[in-house]
Amino acid sequence: MIEFQSVRKQYPNGTVAVEELSLSVETGTITVLVGPSGCGKTTLMRMVNRMIDPSSGTVSVDGTDVRDRDPAQLRRGIGYVIQQAGLFPHRTVLDNIATVPMLAGKTRRAAREHSSELLDLVGLPADLGKRYPAQLSGGQQQRVGVARALAADPPVLLMDEPFSAVDPVVREGLQDELLRLQDELDKTVLFVTHDIDEAIKLGEKVAVLRQGGHLAQCAPPDDLLSSPADDFVTSFVGRDRGYRRLSFVDSARLRPKPVPTVRLGERVPSTDQWRLAVDEGDRPRGWLPPGTDSDGDLAEHTLVAGGSLHVEHGNLRGALDAALSAPSGLGVVVNADGGAVGVVTADEVLSLLDEHRAAT
Ligand SMILES: Nc1ncnc2c1ncn2[C@@H]1O[C@H](COP(=O)(O)OP(=O)(O)OP(=O)(O)O)[C@@H](O)[C@H]1O
Ligand SMILES: [Mg+2]
Repeated sequence: MIEFQSVRKQYPNGTVAVEELSLSVETGTITVLVGPSGCGKTTLMRMVNRMIDPSSGTVSVDGTDVRDRDPAQLRRGIGYVIQQAGLFPHRTVLDNIATVPMLAGKTRRAAREHSSELLDLVGLPADLGKRYPAQLSGGQQQRVGVARALAADPPVLLMDEPFSAVDPVVREGLQDELLRLQDELDKTVLFVTHDIDEAIKLGEKVAVLRQGGHLAQCAPPDDLLSSPADDFVTSFVGRDRGYRRLSFVDSARLRPKPVPTVRLGERVPSTDQWRLAVDEGDRPRGWLPPGTDSDGDLAEHTLVAGGSLHVEHGNLRGALDAALSAPSGLGVVVNADGGAVGVVTADEVLSLLDEHRAAT
């Protein structure tokens, strides 16, 4: 566990970056620090691995004050990932990942072997290992940064806006990857971001900081959205918080209804209904509007593009989005293999939400 007790940090120029802050990060969980620029997130995080020492108060890891630990030894148990990965430009990917294990005394060969396994763990192909960081995309560099932080198998991971330099799509992939990794590895993670959506997606607990390093609220994301502690938190979690909260209601009780389907390549008569076009694996390809037919083989370009797909057993936010984004108003539910299971309407999603509200 990481524990901050009445921690205060004033820089020599008088700036108070963190003010009397107490917070604990439980072992094996992801806690996210979120707040506007300059509110003290990085300062707080760097006090854990002693890159910065507090002016007063204590920071402890597993019950020991970090000031009683040797910094080099302390840092070996703490992986650190920063924005733009911070890779060594003149070292190959494999050597970047192998850096810490080699410092800790592993042979180059053993360290490289382990590095290859880590590349695979973070979802990168083995042949990237020989490249230099500049020869990778931003998202790939970020994955290497995560692999490097994991190389010494530290129980604690500090991640300071690790995904903020990549585009939204890559970013979502990296977030999913982190959640998958965490399922497997159970690290104690302190994650910094100023993106509230990222915080809500990743954090088992989210600590909202405001200017001057004050802790405004620390709570599980659902509580943060349903009961923000004050006006600052309310404005920070934003106007969409009702919609975001749908992420915490699971869709297990949603019953998708059957939908008429047509297969690509088939000859289809006209009807007065929306029909879902699927491929040979039952995967949705788009919609055929009422009153359309194909006298020849149904081709993809005659279809209206579909909306987002809701993977069954996800949450209501995904289900509602599927319904709202579908041209037919019918949200397509797919199974884990991508095959269409049925459809739901926005009304059905909302009435399930009503039931959930009544029950809680
Ligand atoms: N070495 C320093 N000397 C003086 N002031 C500093 C120093 N480092 C940071 N600060 C100030 O302390 C405050 C907190 O900085 P910090 O880097 O912790 O913020 P942050 O929340 O990480 O911001 P960002 O989201 O922009 O990264 C800011 O006002 C910053 O200007
Ligand atoms: Mg920062």
